[in-house]
Amino acid sequence: MKMSFIPGDSVQVQENQTVLEAALQNGLHIQHTCNGQGTCGTCKVRVLGDENQPVTESEQKLLCEHEIKMGYRLACQVKCSENMEVHPQH
Ligand code: FES
Repeated sequence: MKMSFIPGDSVQVQENQTVLEAALQNGLHIQHTCNGQGTCGTCKVRVLGDENQPVTESEQKLLCEHEIKMGYRLACQVKCSENMEVHPQH
């Protein structure tokens, strides 16, 4: 399946892969200080197109309520899905 990193192209991703894994596999940089352990919060991205994916415990700890409402997620916690659009933060 495909999803988009903005700015950039659609990339091929696998189901059940995290957004962080998909980004790294496609040579796209997202900060990930704790290496995907869900403890650092540096992999914060804005995700559009899959608002129904449950927010994990790590995300509840590291993101404020407002950020979650705005679609911010941790790239190492959120799974890839079809038609998802990911806006990395720099
Ligand atoms: S890489 Fe640290 S919280 Fe995602």
